[in-house]
Amino acid sequence: MSAVESVRWSSDGAAVDIIDQRHLPGTLLRRELRNADELCDAIRTLAVRGAPAIGVAGAMGLVVALAAHVEEERERFLTSADELGRRIARVRPTAVNLSWAIARMLRVAHGTEGDPRAVLGALRGEATAILEEDREMCRRIGEHGVGLLTDGARVLTHCNAGALATAGIGTALAPVYLAAERGRRVAVFADETRPLMQGSRLTAWELGQAGIDVTVLADNMAASLMREGRVDLVIVGADRIAANGDVANKIGTYPLALAARHHGVPFYVAAPWSTVDPATATGDAIEIEHRAADELGLGFASPVSPRDAAVYNPAFDVTPASLVTAFVTDRGIVRPVYRFDLERHAGASAG
Ligand code: MRU
Repeated sequence: MSAVESVRWSSDGAAVDIIDQRHLPGTLLRRELRNADELCDAIRTLAVRGAPAIGVAGAMGLVVALAAHVEEERERFLTSADELGRRIARVRPTAVNLSWAIARMLRVAHGTEGDPRAVLGALRGEATAILEEDREMCRRIGEHGVGLLTDGARVLTHCNAGALATAGIGTALAPVYLAAERGRRVAVFADETRPLMQGSRLTAWELGQAGIDVTVLADNMAASLMREGRVDLVIVGADRIAANGDVANKIGTYPLALAARHHGVPFYVAAPWSTVDPATATGDAIEIEHRAADELGLGFASPVSPRDAAVYNPAFDVTPASLVTAFVTDRGIVRPVYRFDLERHAGASAG
């Protein structure tokens, strides 16, 4: 089981304490984020990353940033909360968990009576609830998904949807951790995940820490491995799931889904309900974050493309719902045909 704690309160409660993922796998370094600038910079530079983890860090960071405004009169304080919330939510637009967590915090701010100290106290409670719920949701995703992994299962995953990307044991990796905990043999293939190598740097690191068999692949190797019959299932995470089931996730997920469909390999998307966005009808309406050119061109010690070459660097792609075998959620396994804008999935687990 993973012992990684990617996001937590600092011991004095005045900061968000994160693992700075930019230094992994070389160094396990924690960092305390003590104001809005530090929080936004950490989210932007992927020091803290993964849809659920940035939602949790965003909520906690709003509390930390608002502490500096506690002497303001109530209306001004609430305006500061709105402004800071908008600023934090815009840092990464694709992962809906971030704007979802901020919207939830702002509802509490406006719905709490009393002076700014009372509102700030309520916000701290809400951020802690978001943190703890995320932990529980990961565990439940694991419980619902562990049945997909028989003894000896060979799982392929993309990017990092593990403990580092959440407050708990991850989404895509939660069933893997639980299967290992129950004594099943599981082998994971981790796509390296160009350009920022979340798979080789982070997934391989955290699975290695937990003693789980992991093999790193270059992204372009997955289809060959499937053709050779060496992958039993694919499990990936998600940054946003549209109402029709289209999935935004790390760039490279869509080709993986195509390859899986071609080779008859089941393709699962594991995500908490906070990643479902019923207000977005289809994947076409999801805003895809584009990142700096240098991430692609300067990823290694020396440049890997000419300095003046044009760079196309979207951080995410959209996988059509038709390529998803099933969603593994904290509310159960949801199989086609799904409509995430309908309430029928709201409480019960769908088989
Ligand atoms: O850019 P990143 O590293 O934040 O992208 C992360 C992913 O794409 C994950 O698969 C997704 O956020 C789910 S994390 C449980």
